[in-house]
Amino acid sequence: MSSASEPSELGDLSPEELRRRGYSAIDWIVELLASSRDLPVLARTRPGDLLAALPLQGPEEPQDWEQTLADLNDLILPGITHWNHPRFFAYFANTGSVPGIIGATLATALNPNSMLWRTSPAATELEQRVLEWLAGWLGLPTSLFGIINDTASVSTLCALAAARQLVPGYSSQEGMGSLAAPLRLYASEQAHSSIDKAALLLGLGTASVRKIPTRADYSMDPHALEAAIVSDLAAGEIPFCVVATAGTTSTTSIDPLEKIATLCARFDLWLHVDAAYGGAAAVVPDMRPRFRGWERADSIVVNPHKWLFTPMCCSVLYTRRPDDLRAAFSLVPEYLRSDVGDDRSEAQGDDADGLGAAPVDFMNYGIQLGRPFRALKLWMVMNAYGRAGIEQRLRHHMQLAARFASWVDEHPDFERLAPTPLSTVCFRYRPGAGRGTGDGTDLAPVPQDPHAAANEELMARVNRGGQIFLSHTRLRGRLALRLAIGNLRTTAADVQHAWQTLLDTRPPVATRGTGGVAS
Ligand SMILES: Cc1ncc(COP(=O)(O)O)c(C=O)c1O
Repeated sequence: MSSASEPSELGDLSPEELRRRGYSAIDWIVELLASSRDLPVLARTRPGDLLAALPLQGPEEPQDWEQTLADLNDLILPGITHWNHPRFFAYFANTGSVPGIIGATLATALNPNSMLWRTSPAATELEQRVLEWLAGWLGLPTSLFGIINDTASVSTLCALAAARQLVPGYSSQEGMGSLAAPLRLYASEQAHSSIDKAALLLGLGTASVRKIPTRADYSMDPHALEAAIVSDLAAGEIPFCVVATAGTTSTTSIDPLEKIATLCARFDLWLHVDAAYGGAAAVVPDMRPRFRGWERADSIVVNPHKWLFTPMCCSVLYTRRPDDLRAAFSLVPEYLRSDVGDDRSEAQGDDADGLGAAPVDFMNYGIQLGRPFRALKLWMVMNAYGRAGIEQRLRHHMQLAARFASWVDEHPDFERLAPTPLSTVCFRYRPGAGRGTGDGTDLAPVPQDPHAAANEELMARVNRGGQIFLSHTRLRGRLALRLAIGNLRTTAADVQHAWQTLLDTRPPVATRGTGGVAS
């Protein structure tokens, strides 16, 4: 067919349309961020609302942009839970910061795929360089190998695959069948469920994960860890890895990394540090002592999409053993060989100054082949605030959390259920708790929680109100509310607002029938 017969309406929208739609989309984003405090944090829609509102079939003909924008406002926006809301205090926050939004948009416009160095050299090399910067900001050796994955769950899965690769006798070809005894992996009972999921996916089985008891502050008990390793070795099993957490999901406790690193060295185990949320705090130099020992880890995960103001998805996996990571994942079919017909790779050899080093093909260090340009948004975030700006923001969040914790401690009807080492406060409503009863470290486990219903009710009411969004956890049998500060736009007034909302929303005195009940 001759090109002359190509209909003019084929192909993409015109540059004029890009300008028109793009400018209105930017205006829309500006409006959204400016008005986010007025939106309910938690979506108020019911299951199926959007499904019922959208047609069953996709449009046969092009739809009008104005109508699409109107549908975005009328149909989709009401069903959004606003993670960008300054009063999003549930789970761990992530922020669509201005540089992050711009970076993600520009990355989509460029749309490179950094699976191989040559499929986008700049995307690969920017990823290498920003991860060196970030390592430096975290007080980690900049010689660590870093790679950006989508989530911490995937980063941890990759790290554990690398750890398994090192087990004597393990063969990638034979898989788990190559081992005569079961593998054992150690993590605290407070570790994130992604560890169990990784064990599940790697074919180890969740029973391979030994859940190590925690100390009063919810950090891993290193003596119990040592005992578990010794006992498994005596039983002929194969300990291969310890996952320590720096910032657990429930309470943000930090495991004793130095002691755990020493145990790992003694028993020749891979140490993976899950610092998905908490790792960001190491940008603040005074916080570094809490992380001492993580520089000895074999792998570390830190999520810029949690507390480093970078939009989803951006999880960094660091390792000082890139060859082992590569051994776990490298599988190069003919059609992906970049040494055939490309003389640029050959021209470069290993080079101590890093400038002429052999190019990295990131596809060899993880699960996915195609890789979006996630480094661009991280680079833009780092450039926009600078290390000092990020340090100030993190410090501020920790100060706000400490302030909230002090209000809880001082109030006779509330109590704290865990220490607050970072920016998350675990507390509960307990009428008659008394003032300043401590940080929860003295509370023994309870089989039943007489205050659970009142706290559930309080959380449900608060979240329904739309002004703030909190989540919960369970600590030594007690239902705990969590206020996690981490959104870039959260101010002191927002935290004050959260406290006032809790005070105003407490169940009325008549139904506060739990006063004075211990536990
Ligand atoms: C300590 C910790 N590790 C891992 C994860 C999983 O993170 P992702 O959603 O990036 O997989 C979380 C999520 O909150 C977490 O808190």
